[in-house]
Amino acid sequence: MLTSILALAASFGVLAQADNPFVQTLFTADPAPLVYNGRVYAFVDHDNTGATYYDMTDWRLFSTADMVNWQDHGSPLSLKDFSWAKANAWAPQIIPRNGQFYFYVPVTNKDGSDSIGVATSTNITGPYKDALGKPLITHSEIDPTVMIDPSGQAYLYYANPDLYYVKLNQDMVSYSSGPTKITLPSGAGFQEAPWVYERNSIYYVAYAGTCCSENIRYMTGSSPTGPFTYKGVIMPTQGKSFTNHEAIIDFRGHSYFFYHNGALPGGNGYQRSACVEEFKYNSDGTIPTIQMTTAGVSQIGTLIPYTRQEAETIAFSANVKTEVCSEGGIDVTGIQSGSYIKVKGVAFGMAGASSLAVRVAGTGSGSIAIHLGSQTGTHIGTCSVTSTGGSQSWKTVTCAISGATGTNDMYFVFGGSGYSFDYWQFTQKS
Ligand SMILES: *[C@@H]1O[C@H](CO)[C@@H](O)[C@H](O)[C@H]1NC(C)=O
Repeated sequence: MLTSILALAASFGVLAQADNPFVQTLFTADPAPLVYNGRVYAFVDHDNTGATYYDMTDWRLFSTADMVNWQDHGSPLSLKDFSWAKANAWAPQIIPRNGQFYFYVPVTNKDGSDSIGVATSTNITGPYKDALGKPLITHSEIDPTVMIDPSGQAYLYYANPDLYYVKLNQDMVSYSSGPTKITLPSGAGFQEAPWVYERNSIYYVAYAGTCCSENIRYMTGSSPTGPFTYKGVIMPTQGKSFTNHEAIIDFRGHSYFFYHNGALPGGNGYQRSACVEEFKYNSDGTIPTIQMTTAGVSQIGTLIPYTRQEAETIAFSANVKTEVCSEGGIDVTGIQSGSYIKVKGVAFGMAGASSLAVRVAGTGSGSIAIHLGSQTGTHIGTCSVTSTGGSQSWKTVTCAISGATGTNDMYFVFGGSGYSFDYWQFTQKS
């Protein structure tokens, strides 16, 4: 009995600390992070809610400067943007070159075969447009991963159940050689989801092995095309999804491992969620075993509350959704009484905050209470919301704040319903 009470208390403790999965407003899978301009941009698949088989019609984008507060950028690309595509907006990867961003996707064609397409944009957040009006590669394989090696040669790999590559031309939307099949080392147990990158002259191929349920494995070599040596399992089979798909990046001196599981309420193999863990490479460049956690990663730095912050910048949330906003970007909607948004590591400073402005719209009414430390922690103020006359008729409401000093996790705890939330900004005490 005592043990079970302690276990229960411990699990609530973990939930309060939870930052994984890092998107709670929808189901996301196959995270493909790109470090760009001081932020991590995580492109993801989007499993439609209620799916009982693969049902993905667009890709989504989230970004962060601190690895814990993730801003929702909506949908940069959709199946509809490829006139020849029918279904399955599967695992993408995005890479910059030539002043553009190249967005590689696997999709199922109108003829039922799988192929790889490419879309481009001059803005990382899109919108992206089909670069070719037809597939780049028709080979009935999926899971593109792209790498520009130190010599400047770009390689596009793809897989399932074999691993192939083509050498991309400088234009990134055509290729000069291949497809070439890569000879896999014995013991590789290769299935799908390759993520290829070079680090300290070692070429890494991380991938999903032993379908179903999958674990994440890797192999390394001294050239982009091998031969590769099998190096073992990175993430053992776990979580409520029978697939997994890794991505590995370095950001601001830290190394991160992205993957997916089924950890949100209702989650499973078709309603997946992207997560991230931090790890350290061993001195010989090998990768340690990494376990799934709900705690997630440590914040790098803090969040400044005295500049405009988007409501859709979220460390963790419950019972909110996001939508395209008439003022530009995205807003938070679907608010119900008891919904909350956690923003992590908010730096109020020594003088602290005197007031808060929130941008809201809707015909409903309610209140936004602000708490520190937890949903029921120190209450620092409440902004009242009344009808603004329309679901996208935006209005700024200001309320007094007291007791907000230092650096704290902050919770917007919502009362009432029928309103949406676009952005917020505190004023510092003078
Ligand atoms: C990219 O698009 C976003 C959203 O429209 C915009 O806020 C941002 O300024 C753009 N970035 C550049 C570099 O043009």
